Amino acid sequence: MVDLKNRTRKLLIVLFCICAISIIIFSYSSTSSLQLAIRQSDKPVSKALCACRQCISVEDEDPWFRKRFNTSISPFLSQKNAILSKDTFKWWQRLFPKANKANYSAVVQKLFQVVPGEGHYNDSAPNRCRTCAVVGNSGNLKGSDYGALIDSNDFVIRMNRAPILGYEKDVGNRSTHRVAYPGTIRHLQNDTHLILIPFKMTTLELIMSALTTGSMKSAPLPEMAQINADKLLIYNPTFLKYIYDVWLERHGKYPSTGFLTLMLAIHICDEVNVFGFGAAKDGSWQHYWEKTKLSRRRPTGVHAGDYESMLMKLLTCKNKMKLFEGR
Ligand SMILES: *[C@@H]1O[C@H](CO)[C@@H](O)[C@H](O)[C@H]1NC(C)=O
Ligand SMILES: *[C@@H]1O[C@H](CO)[C@@H](O)[C@H](O)[C@H]1NC(C)=O
Ligand SMILES: *[C@@H]1O[C@H](CO)[C@@H](O)[C@H](O)[C@H]1NC(C)=O
Ligand SMILES: *[C@@H]1O[C@H](CO)[C@@H](O)[C@H](O)[C@H]1NC(C)=O
Ligand SMILES: *[C@@H]1O[C@H](CO)[C@@H](O)[C@H](O)[C@H]1NC(C)=O
Repeated sequence: MVDLKNRTRKLLIVLFCICAISIIIFSYSSTSSLQLAIRQSDKPVSKALCACRQCISVEDEDPWFRKRFNTSISPFLSQKNAILSKDTFKWWQRLFPKANKANYSAVVQKLFQVVPGEGHYNDSAPNRCRTCAVVGNSGNLKGSDYGALIDSNDFVIRMNRAPILGYEKDVGNRSTHRVAYPGTIRHLQNDTHLILIPFKMTTLELIMSALTTGSMKSAPLPEMAQINADKLLIYNPTFLKYIYDVWLERHGKYPSTGFLTLMLAIHICDEVNVFGFGAAKDGSWQHYWEKTKLSRRRPTGVHAGDYESMLMKLLTCKNKMKLFEGR
């Protein structure tokens, strides 16, 4: 198992290097823009399957991406897909064994009486161009002046407790979506979709109780009061496991919120622009709204931070996302 992980890690490094080196060779060997144009016309142009300038889905798909990218798994939990496979349920239960004792089917049955449980954003088409900004919490946003650029996207997806007020110039002033879990839900505007990640079943119980009777023994957190049931989306545990198995190849205990948000965007958007990931300019790690530094090294906890970061570089290299690292 460990050997296998090391092997896939090495393979990923090699893939990334090939990708990077081919870009370097290509840019050095093309001595004029004319030559570049000729070279490009030699290759079959891969046809975009959306209306953006650069689409995530193209005909003639890169084999590495094609092997992993699976649009048949819905990113959101719905009435239709709420029944989890045995495998998924077991894996999900084992993440937090103590927090997963409730009767799952009873909980989701009640939940979808108040939450709209339909498919979302599955309208991919050649004439659609949905641009998305995924806004992380890194200190590299400080002084970046990215605000207007971030706001110009169709969707602006933020995470956890990241504030906007007072930071608009660097992080923008819109949030169409916010990905969070209980304990980190802050700053919902009244038209923001909350995308709740249920790492554990108690999350679903808590939300169900807050939106219906409030009968759960531990009182629902005050933050639950700002949740608008009509705007609530629930991250699908099956999609969570797919990201972990297929994309992360089971590195770390489970994927970080940042990586889960990025992969969600890759699956529901046509163009993904990523802001606020990685270290601050001086190499330290901190949140853009905090003065104190968290750490001098990537604080990854139970997540495979380096592996996730490498995958992001690879996705960037393959034109599936654009990374804005501060300026
Ligand atoms: C996508 O996921 C579905 C459901 O897990 C699976 O049946 C299918 O084989 C997958 N497709 C690819 C191309 O991996
Ligand atoms: C779980 O809930 C479902 C639906 O409410 C019910 O049919 C089932 O009997 C329950 N299972 C257990 C073990 O209580
Ligand atoms: C998208 O989801 C909706 C609601 O579940 C469904 O009616 C529709 O057929 C789906 N569209 C596609 C293209 O899958
Ligand atoms: C958000 O910022 C833009 C400028 O980037 C401004 O035109 C707009 O009024 C702001 N909206 C709100 C709600 O503050
Ligand atoms: C949302 O908030 C804005 C101002 O903050 C208000 O003008 C608007 O009416 C509110 N919309 C709803 C649906 O509550």
